[in-house]
Amino acid sequence: MTADEQKRAAGEAAAALIAPGMTVGLGTGSTAAWFVKALAARAVPDIRAVATSEATAELAASLGIPLLDLDSAGVIDLTVDGADECGPRLALIKGGGAALLREKLVWEASARCVVIADAAKTPAPTLGRFPLPIEVVAFGHASTARRIDAVLAEAGIAAKAMLRLKDGRPVRTDGGNLIYDAPCGVIPDPAALGDALKRLTGVVEHGLFLNLAERALIGTDDGVKTYQP
Ligand code: A5P
Repeated sequence: MTADEQKRAAGEAAAALIAPGMTVGLGTGSTAAWFVKALAARAVPDIRAVATSEATAELAASLGIPLLDLDSAGVIDLTVDGADECGPRLALIKGGGAALLREKLVWEASARCVVIADAAKTPAPTLGRFPLPIEVVAFGHASTARRIDAVLAEAGIAAKAMLRLKDGRPVRTDGGNLIYDAPCGVIPDPAALGDALKRLTGVVEHGLFLNLAERALIGTDDGVKTYQP
């Protein structure tokens, strides 16, 4: 199977978890897009959805999935989303698509969160191979980045955060912020690093999703495998 076929299989397995009447969180990225398409194809009655990005909202609307905003949703029953990397106890790195802030807001408003991915993202014993996305406000962002580097050094990580560019221009998130990516290699203590990053003025959010996923559905050549923390 190609990676895309594995993503599709994982998305379809997740769509089978959606029951009538549920409020569903819709993730962002190529794997989450397969979930959104599978959900629309199942035509589950009376569902409502909250999107984690403008791109996902556009896709869901085009497929006739009723959307509401996070403030009107109350508790979301189940959110399904992709990830850039899965580590021990389903610690995740997310934000490769620059949607980490809205994703984390939706995940934290959800009773249950399921991560879907292809076999290349099978949960590994360490976390940090994928560069850690960190969303920062534009004002003084280079100064914030220097303080991010200091936090990384204190955490024993010899990495410099790099401003994310696309076509030579800084990437802007849906909220108008910038993204720095930190190529950590291995993150010895993800919870401590996440806390330290959050303490920096100018950092809006980071892509460490810890203790949030209740399971991972990983598409493989041998079917969709389930992992739990
Ligand atoms: C979006 O910001 C990310 O968190 C995505 O969920 C992540 O990049 C996974 O994307 P793919 O499913 O396209 O790999």
